[in-house]
Amino acid sequence: MSTVIYPGSFDPCTNGHLDIIRRASKIFEKVIVAVLCNSSKAPLFSAEERVQFIKDAAKDLPNVEITSFSGLLVDFAKKNNAKIVIKGLRAVSDFEYEFQMALTNHNLCRECETIFIPASAEYMFLSSSIVKEIASYDGDLTGLVPPDLVPVLRHRFGFC
Ligand code: PNS
Repeated sequence: MSTVIYPGSFDPCTNGHLDIIRRASKIFEKVIVAVLCNSSKAPLFSAEERVQFIKDAAKDLPNVEITSFSGLLVDFAKKNNAKIVIKGLRAVSDFEYEFQMALTNHNLCRECETIFIPASAEYMFLSSSIVKEIASYDGDLTGLVPPDLVPVLRHRFGFC
């Protein structure tokens, strides 16, 4: 059974992340979305919140499981009997960092392979950082994040 891991900070998840989750769920038998909880970056949302946002947005996808992890990704992958890591690639600017991570993971675990899924054209520009930047100015988040997340983000930035 091909189980794949889609790891990330997802702080918060964007429609770009959800697009990758949906597309991966059509290709692979099981997709485990793994939310990093011990990042050196101070997240806007707790790991529990980030997991719940994705659970809510992906509840119609029966072969997608959402959980958090800490420690090395390769250790999490081994524990879950997964050998494939999925990453979305937006632009060439993503490539160097993603390539380094893919090589690092492969070096740590020879069986671990990374498969890149190109972002859909409408989400090429989209990132969690861009979402937070727009939200911090109470800008329009329509189409960038799941609709339920819009009021949550507005509230977190003190706009309601
Ligand atoms: O969404 P992000 O912030 O680009 O995701 C980065 C993530 C979570 C995939 C990466 O930081 C990660 O896998 N962290 C776990 C620690 C680890 O395994 N590090 C070695 C690989 S670089």
